[in-house]
Formats: sequence, structure tokens, C-alpha cells
Amino acid sequence: MSDDAKGMRRGLTRYGDADFSLYLRKAFIKAMGYSDDALARPVIAIADTGSAYNACHATVPEIVEAVKRGVMLAGGLPMPFPTVSLHESFAHPTSMYLRNLMAMDTEEMLRALPMDAAVLVGGCDKTIPAQLMAAASANVPAIVVATGPMLPGSHQGERIGACTDCRRFWARFRAGAIGMPEIEEIAGRLAPTAGTCGVMGTASTIACMTEAMGMMLPGGASIPAVHADRLRHAEAAGTQAVRIAASSLAPSQIMTPKALSNALRVLLAVGGSTNAVIHLAAIAGRLGLALDYDAFDRIGRETPVLVDLKPTGRFYMDDLHRAGGMAPVLRALKPLLHLDCVGVTGRTLGEEIERLPPAWPQEVVRALDNPIHRGGSIAVLRGNLAGDGAIIKQSAATPELLIHCGPAVVFDSLEDLAQRIDAPDLDVTPESVLVLRNAGPKGAPGMPEAGYLPIPRKLAERGVRDMVRISDARMSGTAFGTVVLHAAPEAAAGGPLAWVRDGDPIALDVPKRTLVLDVPDAELARRRAAWKPAAAPADSARGYRRLYLDHVQQAPQGCDFDFLAKVPATGRIPV
Ligand code: FES
Repeated sequence: MSDDAKGMRRGLTRYGDADFSLYLRKAFIKAMGYSDDALARPVIAIADTGSAYNACHATVPEIVEAVKRGVMLAGGLPMPFPTVSLHESFAHPTSMYLRNLMAMDTEEMLRALPMDAAVLVGGCDKTIPAQLMAAASANVPAIVVATGPMLPGSHQGERIGACTDCRRFWARFRAGAIGMPEIEEIAGRLAPTAGTCGVMGTASTIACMTEAMGMMLPGGASIPAVHADRLRHAEAAGTQAVRIAASSLAPSQIMTPKALSNALRVLLAVGGSTNAVIHLAAIAGRLGLALDYDAFDRIGRETPVLVDLKPTGRFYMDDLHRAGGMAPVLRALKPLLHLDCVGVTGRTLGEEIERLPPAWPQEVVRALDNPIHRGGSIAVLRGNLAGDGAIIKQSAATPELLIHCGPAVVFDSLEDLAQRIDAPDLDVTPESVLVLRNAGPKGAPGMPEAGYLPIPRKLAERGVRDMVRISDARMSGTAFGTVVLHAAPEAAAGGPLAWVRDGDPIALDVPKRTLVLDVPDAELARRRAAWKPAAAPADSARGYRRLYLDHVQQAPQGCDFDFLAKVPATGRIPV
């Protein structure tokens, strides 16, 4: 079969006789009742990530139906297919551990199944990153449709939402300020509708970045999951997929260095999730682009936080949508964006901004000269404890702790943390620096969102709400606090966190971008020489666990598998 084969003639199963392959495919697909007319149409695959284990994707069946409708209205043949689906709270040990599996599954299905374009229906934190990694590698024309954010709930007259308020109420419960009956009641109200977390967590951040990079139709990032507009957006995506199938507008033409740089600008301007830094690095790696931490920090200093959403600010995604969604964000950021990037509409970002509806008065998105936070929602730290870099979401930190020096209290693992954090005899004060190690990509494994270490109960009960915390783990995009994350290389790979001991002074200076373990170099060299990797756990001998441990990279490389990145890298972002 020639390379320019279309539709059902693409990618024939190999029997050594192409005509026989087509004949056999036709025989089987006819068993599903398709006509010759249907089978001659452009084929639009739809990645269906609906799952009983994924609350954020509860509306996927409706979305898939709407995409199918849009495809058929444009004369195409919609073909949904299932992929791995990941929800944050239903994946053991973490959804991050399985993101690369979802990316591999999706990539290989995009390659294996006959299609002219694909609509990728994702939403919960790791799903759209996995789909964009897959689209980048398979380079099949593709459009992302997000499931959309959930609506906020209400508790005793106060608006609440997953999951910034989950953490706030849990911290109050741990401090004894509220009891079990109330925390149970709150659990029933935090997520009142289907959809992704209703704050600027990872899912919302990734949706905004995907719209900004041009892989989603305009307006798609913020429409609530349960609004009828969400289905109209999905229908439009189906129709547009038929058009890009005809034009062969491929992800590599859309996800350019400039487009990914625009996405990083948006991440910073929306006060987005630190997890998005890892995911963007992984997507870039698939395109042969390395994330330059120092350049990212530089654009951070000149990109203020404009969006007043939790966990950095006050509002919810529903409020952002009513304020115009990404329209006011892109309009405000226009001077800082590359406007010549082409998106799935075939138009440039500059043309899309020209087509935006007129602005109206709102208080969710600020102007460049009146930001929520000036310069750098996420900062990159360097120093002898930062190794190849660590990051902090300074816009969600306690300002008084951004320059801080205190003695380390070290937890060797998640298990050690769970056993000792609330121990009455834990030697800790509000000035201590909590260190969690062996919680990185290999160490945990799966780099769990454990970087938001709980405040030790005896301090929480005294009213302590924040402390400096450092780890090689990640943090939920919905969390807040003075939390240094993604220290690389991780302790399990012999990174500097492995050498810290209880009582060592640690100096954090975010304005100067430094993280320093104040221990003489000779002593650090001795500790480094004495370090030995932990024995491999018993369950690591086979299967995905073996593949994962052998090939997962560190945070600056997006925790992708080394063999999935495009090598050699040919460029760096941001530009
Ligand atoms: Fe799915 Fe938060 S748990 S987006």
C-alpha cells in the first residue's frame, strides 16, 4: 500500500499481499454494518478515555457522541477506540507512574489503526499530556478535546472546589479545627459535578496550555464539563478534524518551539501547576526539544500572574469561563506571545486573537500592568542542594518564607514520613525545613504528589500553616505552600537530597534563586562517596515496573522514558 493511502486503506495488516489485507479488513468491518459509502470517507479516530475509574471523564460518552456528530456533519467516518484512562485518585502507585504507559498506548494506536486524523478526548491531569506526547511522536493530525472543569460546590454557604479546598479542609481537620462528621460532609461537596478539578490545578493548566499552543479549538480550555457548550465544542472539533485530515496539518507543524514557548508563557501567566513543567518537558522531548530551565526562569521573571484563580488566587475555573476563558488571558499576554504559530484551525495565534469577542468588565483576569503577582509564578532554583535544578511555585508560597534558613528534618521515604510526621517526639519547630527524599521518578516510584508534606500535627495544632518543604517529589497543582519540588537528580539516583542529615542548615533564597545545603564541601564529598543505591524491590524484576525503572528520566527531561524522546535534541525551549 502506498504512503498516500487514505482512510481504511491506511496501515494494512501485513500478510504479504496488500490486496488480500484490504479484502480481509473490509470483510470484518462489514460485520459491523458499515456501507461502502461510509468506508470510503475520511476516517477520524476518537480516543475514548471514558472509564468507570475516572470521575473526571464521566462525560466522555457524551463528548464522543458530539465529536462523532461533528465528524459526520463534515462527511467523515468517526471511529472511537479505547485507550488507557488515568484518574489521580484511582491509580496505584500514582497516575504519573502510568502516564508513559498511556502515552505509549495512545501513540501505538495512532500508528496502528487506519485513520486520517484523530480527536483526543482527555482531561484528568496526566491524560492530555500523554495524548500530546503520543501525537508528537506519531505525528498524526490531531485535535484535543478536554472534558472540561467541574463546577464549584458549596459548604455552609462557602463556595468550595476540588481540590485546593480539599487540602485546606484536610489541614484544618488535622489541626483539630473541624471534626470527622464535617470532613465527611465536605467530601460529598467538593466535587459536585463531573469534570476535572475546578481550580487552576494541573488539568486546567494543561487545558489552557493546549489551547495556547494551538492543539485545541479556541475556547475549549475553560467550558465547564456539564455545559451544553462543551458538547458544541466537541462537535466543532469533530468537524475540524475532517478538515485537518484533508490538509494533513500535523502536530509537528503546530507544536513548534515557538508554540511550546507560548504554552510556557500561559503556564506562568495563569499561575499554573508545577506539574505542567514536567509534562511540557516530556512533550518537547518527543519533538527533539530540551527544556532550558534557566531560559524558563528568565521568561518567568517577565511574565506576571494575571489570573486570579485558586490555589494562587480567589476564583474557580467556572469564574474564568464567565470572564471569557482564555480570551482575556491571550489578549493581555499578546505582547509576550509568538503570534505566527498556526493552530488546528489553520489560523495563526495572532489571527485568533484578532477574532476574539470584545472584552467585558470582569475581575478574574488582570492586565499586564496590574498583575496578581509580579514576575515568576514558578522559579527555578540552583545550588548544591538543587543539583540539576529544583522548582518552586512562589506565587502560592508564604512570602515571609521565600528567604529562609533552618535545620533539616529528614524523611527517608513516604513510609518514613507516614510513620513519623505526627510523632509527638519529632524534633521539629516552625523554622525547620522538612525534607522528603526517595520520592522521585525512580525512588517512589512514580514521583507521587507527596511534595506537599503535611505540617507536623503538633505544629498544625499550634496554628502553623506553612513551612519550607523540599523533596524530589511533585505537588498537586491544586496545592499551595512554600514547597520546593522536582529536585534532580532524585535521591534514589544519587542526587544531593541523599546526603542531607537531620540538623543540617538549609538556606532557601527564592529572589536569588538559590537552595543551599550549608555543609562543608569536604563533608559533602565524604557523604557522597559513602552513598549506596537501595536494593531493587522484589516487584521490580519484570513487566512495566522493570521497563519503568530502567528507562524513566529525571524531572528536567519530563520523566519520559529515554527511548521515547527524539534524539538527538535539535533545539531548546523556551525561545
Ligand atoms: Fe482529575 Fe483533579 S482529579 S483533574
